[in-house]
Amino acid sequence: MLVLGIESSCDETAAALVAGDRRILAQAIATQDAEHAPYGGVVPEIAARAHAERLTPLIERVLREAGLGLADCNAIAATAGPGLIGGVMVGLVTAKALAMAGELPLLAINHLEGHALSPRLVDPQLTFPYALLLVSGGHCQLLEVQGVGRYRRLATTIDDALGEAFDKTAKILGLGFPGGPAVERLATEGDSRAVPLPRPLVGSTEPHFSFAGLKSAVLRASQSGTFRPADIAASFQQAAIDCLLDRTRRALGAMGAVSALVLAGGVAANRQVRGALEGLATERGLRFVAPPPLLCTDNAAMIAWAGIERLEAGFAPDPLDIAARPRWPLDPAAEPVRGAGVKA
Ligand code: KG4
Ligand code: ZN
Repeated sequence: MLVLGIESSCDETAAALVAGDRRILAQAIATQDAEHAPYGGVVPEIAARAHAERLTPLIERVLREAGLGLADCNAIAATAGPGLIGGVMVGLVTAKALAMAGELPLLAINHLEGHALSPRLVDPQLTFPYALLLVSGGHCQLLEVQGVGRYRRLATTIDDALGEAFDKTAKILGLGFPGGPAVERLATEGDSRAVPLPRPLVGSTEPHFSFAGLKSAVLRASQSGTFRPADIAASFQQAAIDCLLDRTRRALGAMGAVSALVLAGGVAANRQVRGALEGLATERGLRFVAPPPLLCTDNAAMIAWAGIERLEAGFAPDPLDIAARPRWPLDPAAEPVRGAGVKA
């Protein structure tokens, strides 16, 4: 089994060839950091144009690197949502054209399912059900992953996603874009107890996350001129981690027995976050699994892998007229949360 994966839902254009035995035969990721940096965030129109320019050459490159052609693939898997709709359409339409030309099945993948199943690409021992903390630029969710296509959402953010809070903190501190890695780097030089910052919703009986108040507190701390930027970065990161630990503890108590605590999404690339969640897993006697950083941030190998998982679980391929979706919850039964603004 060989699947070509395509990812274009935000600001990473990516293509990958993944085999059913978990080998990533080739993968390529083109970031758009330089294009979006002047604006301090992703500009949807610029992102869509960049995907349109780069995607086809990237696909050619991974096929060439693997020494394979379209005819060697068993299916084409592309992110069909949720995400910035212009970019998603570029990837999905490209996948449709390739599926048609190669007479191959099309797999329209939920980007969040890509993140959710990515740990199983690197860990064959990871079995269902597992607890998943999915932390990215657009999402912050706690899920019970019961199987392929079966997700129970226990918590989400009522305002900002954690990656967004990292990016805004970076902007406030003048660290540029993308912010997460820059905040992590600066935090290593700071004291995480130096700046008093709130831990929104910690201890609350409701299950959700909130980061808007933390972000505003970072802004006030920075404007006060009293604190070193490194101390603000370290204190922010620690406050965020305290929120993640408290909310994850609560969610673990609200779900049945699970095989592991799993961390995925772009913020899972953060070493302090990984260490803290690993500590919680140990405390609970659970295995801890997190993909390597390159598979945490947006990539196409996770999309190809989700396609393989869906085929192996017996899901039918998707029709060529399937639409791109700006919003696409993993758990359609989850109640909408008051004030929840999903970035895209
Ligand atoms: O999963 P992802 O690549 O895209 C979305 O689906 O949103 O996540 C991107 C987010 C950005 O907000 C970025 O700042 C954050 O992940 N991120 C990090 C780190 N690396 C990426 N946040 C904290 N520490 C990092 N090392
Ligand atoms: Zn993502």
